[in-house]
Amino acid sequence: MPSPTEPLSEFAPAKINLFLHVGERRADGFHDLESLVVFAGMGDALTLECAGMLSLEIGGPFGADLALDADNLVLRAARALAAHAGREPEAAIILTKNLPVASGIGGGSADAAAALRGLVRLWDLSVPDAELSAIAAALGSDVPVCLSGRASWMEGRGERVTAADGVPRVAAVLVNPRVAVPTGPVFKALKTRRGVGAVSHDLQARDVAGLVTYLKLTSNDLQAPAIEIAPVIGEVLNELSRMPGCLLWRMSGSGATCFGLFEDDDAAAMAAIALERSHPKWWVSATRFG
Ligand code: C5P
Repeated sequence: MPSPTEPLSEFAPAKINLFLHVGERRADGFHDLESLVVFAGMGDALTLECAGMLSLEIGGPFGADLALDADNLVLRAARALAAHAGREPEAAIILTKNLPVASGIGGGSADAAAALRGLVRLWDLSVPDAELSAIAAALGSDVPVCLSGRASWMEGRGERVTAADGVPRVAAVLVNPRVAVPTGPVFKALKTRRGVGAVSHDLQARDVAGLVTYLKLTSNDLQAPAIEIAPVIGEVLNELSRMPGCLLWRMSGSGATCFGLFEDDDAAAMAAIALERSHPKWWVSATRFG
């Protein structure tokens, strides 16, 4: 058990939907999904410490964009886990927000999942995986997959998460045009979709070329409706497609963040520099997935 004065750290990596197929709208108002999710080498950071009450301090480059109210997903995660464990939600949490807010790379969900993981350690709880997953699912559709932090197939509303084997590491660039796109309206604007169950989960990718070949058979069904709401997403994709060594370009989640998969780290780094120069207002980050 950690000493009560010793802070714990949890990393909340950016979540990327390499593809995202949307099925029917269900009776509960959510859509059935099918997605291959990976995690980036960059993300938000949390520190958690024992305290007499629950508190959250938010800093970092995007800290000012995030409302610090009782509805904050990190605080909701702490209260939900404490209620499940039958204890008071006592912890001082510091969130360093490195990811743009409402951007399709799971910032809030990754933070909530990291809070759950960290508080299980801080409070020395033993919560069965299925119960922790259920707490995560009640917080948001992307929280269960973020709990695992590993390449995963995501199905159902998002609560069915299984490990995806054979996803290689790949150099990537993330680009966000600094437009916050709320998820609900993007689903509402959806006109055509691939539906779920249309692709095999037998990846057999093993290398980057194999992964790209597989992904070219897939799409992000939310990309077209998101572009309708925020046309600048189309511009981001166009710019990524023109970068030397870019093998695949696509939007993640409900946007507006897009990613490019690159031949190697150097090509990704060069593309990031070029995009930062040509669009100084955009958020650009060279990273790796997997
Ligand atoms: O679960 P989450 O809070 O991320 O969902 C935000 C909104 O996105 C929902 O209110 C719903 O409109 C839409 N959504 C959906 N089907 C999903 C996930 C999200 O329709 N599987």
